[in-house]
Amino acid sequence: MERILIIGSLGQIGSELVVALRKKYGNENVFATDIKNPGKELRKSGPFQILDVLDFKNLLHFIIRHHITQVYNLAAVLSGNAEKMPLQAWDINMKALMNTLEAARQSQAKKLFWPSSIAVFGPTTPRHNTPQLTVMEPNTVYGISKLAGERWGEYYNKRYGIDFRSVRYPGLISYKTEPGGGTTDYAVEIFFEAVTKGSYECFLSAKTALPMMFMEDAIRNTIKLMEVDGNRLSLRSAYNMAGISFTPKELADSIQKRMPEFKISYKPDFRQAIADSWPASIDDSVARNDWGLNIKFDLEKLVDVMLEKVTKKLKG
Ligand code: NAD
Ligand code: SER
Repeated sequence: MERILIIGSLGQIGSELVVALRKKYGNENVFATDIKNPGKELRKSGPFQILDVLDFKNLLHFIIRHHITQVYNLAAVLSGNAEKMPLQAWDINMKALMNTLEAARQSQAKKLFWPSSIAVFGPTTPRHNTPQLTVMEPNTVYGISKLAGERWGEYYNKRYGIDFRSVRYPGLISYKTEPGGGTTDYAVEIFFEAVTKGSYECFLSAKTALPMMFMEDAIRNTIKLMEVDGNRLSLRSAYNMAGISFTPKELADSIQKRMPEFKISYKPDFRQAIADSWPASIDDSVARNDWGLNIKFDLEKLVDVMLEKVTKKLKG
């Protein structure tokens, strides 16, 4: 029987991952934790506890006491926020990962999911259809921490046998929980402002193409990667995950097809430089071949669902 710990469970990904894992493994077997207090819905659906991943002793104690068998570690400072406090972000992102790797080594919880990002690539990486293995010279503190994290994950796998699994998520788009301070957040904000104000001022330029993915695809594939037979995994760093690539203008055009009165303007800020250093599109054929990564949402389907759900959320 699996007993699963989710660290950072109240964030954009965690809030949806908890629900999906509880459906599959039973409410009582999925332990949600975070440094914030949860809403009523999550608290009612199964166990929740305040747990700071930076506190190694408590983390290890929790894992042993609750007989945890696998851990999803989602705690991190995202790209935009990390550039505002580089040293702190480095400390938090690396310590959060190293504590879970060490806790896995010192306990029975040998299976660990920790997400990497398209931020591992940098301005010298080929921008289009970026291969799995290529030049990687990230120039953001977030990207540097993700690349170092991938290397440590593979090291703990090879040296200590930790069942480390990871993907390089593209920008994730969801309506349930606000994104946590990244460069791809515009692609969520745009829907909320389209519904409330009918307009949006985008912090990236019109032509900035980035890889994105609807949350449902991200959650389904994350669980698939964690469940697949480990012998099928040729990589123990992190798999490219592409989703769909579009620019702010293409996204706005698609919204305008459904809301002709919607207006967009562009005022790029410091996040433009981050986006310019990332790939425009990604080759994820290794993940497709190894463990069957499969994406269901294209841009049109994503815009339909986002407009419907955001409207329902904001206007009942
Ligand atoms: P988020 O910021 O929405 O959520 C992170 C959660 O971690 C928050 O609920 C926060 O309270 C919690 N947290 C922060 N510090 C903690 C600590 N010390 N101990 C325990 N919990 C703590 O982030 P997210 O978007 O859900 O991303 C989760 C992971 O996925 C991160 O590693 C992120 O880098 C990665 N990722 C996300 C995206 C995306 O588009 N959302 C893309 C690529 C990679
Ligand atoms: N969505 C994330 C960010 O923008 C990508 O890792 O930080």
